[in-house]
Amino acid sequence: MSRIALVTGGTRGIGAATALVLKQAGYRVAVTYAGNEAGAQRFREATDIPAYQWSVADFAACQRGVDRLATELGPVEILVNNAGVTHDSMLHKMTHEAWESVIGIDLGGCFNMCRAVIGGMRARSFGRIVNIGSVNGQQGQVGQANYAAAKAGILGFTKALALETASHGITVNAIAPGYTATDMVTAVPAAILETIVARIPVGRLGKPEEIARAVLFLVADEAGFITGSTLSVNGGQHM
Ligand code: CAA
Repeated sequence: MSRIALVTGGTRGIGAATALVLKQAGYRVAVTYAGNEAGAQRFREATDIPAYQWSVADFAACQRGVDRLATELGPVEILVNNAGVTHDSMLHKMTHEAWESVIGIDLGGCFNMCRAVIGGMRARSFGRIVNIGSVNGQQGQVGQANYAAAKAGILGFTKALALETASHGITVNAIAPGYTATDMVTAVPAAILETIVARIPVGRLGKPEEIARAVLFLVADEAGFITGSTLSVNGGQHM
């Protein structure tokens, strides 16, 4: 029986590409989305992948969602923590709400989801967790103190959980995507994005599928010796 994978924030962007690549590879896939009901419906119809609505920032909702998935599909064996938001502004203008929401969703969501699945993974002595970080968590970025902090936090979280679970058949890795052609990146003002792309050695934005292929590699049963690592997929922007 093929393994069950859950991708958070999976109805668009890197998450949707990951869900599709995993499905095409034979995994049984489900995704979560936070609020865009119409987008989720289009995704369900286009892919035939079940999409569940809950906020990864809501601890209890994550637990309930994972329990519901266990009865409807089976236990989560592969978790891809992809859900994330940006709320960019210079720190001297950043609101407390912009800080709290990005930390709560991007980093808090990673904890909430891992907390919900980790007991089952330990009990079954198998698990694959991939946390989606960012090049900007590695190198920082103007206007992203909140996002860079959350994404850097994900890298430390990944290593700590990898150590805790290494002897239980569970791997925990991070992928740090560079600027990828998604709604999140195309929202960056065009003139600024142009200067950013000019500094990417490969000379273009990444494609969501290019991040998805890296996830596929890390979640394989055969990838059991890779844990606690950060795989950079960024066109050479940061080394
Ligand atoms: N590098 C260096 N300096 C920069 C800069 C950059 N990338 N971007 C802006 N600045 C400088 C400006 O030149 C300006 O300097 P001065 O005050 O000396 O003139 C100063 O920072 C303020 O810039 P703005 O006038 O643009 O300020 P603003 O308040 O209007 O906007 C901002 C600030 C919202 C941060 C805007 O610059 C912006 O959107 N920047 C892009 C941020 C970004 O890259 N976000 C990534 C989103 S995608 C993502 O996060 C996915 C992923 O994982 C990669």
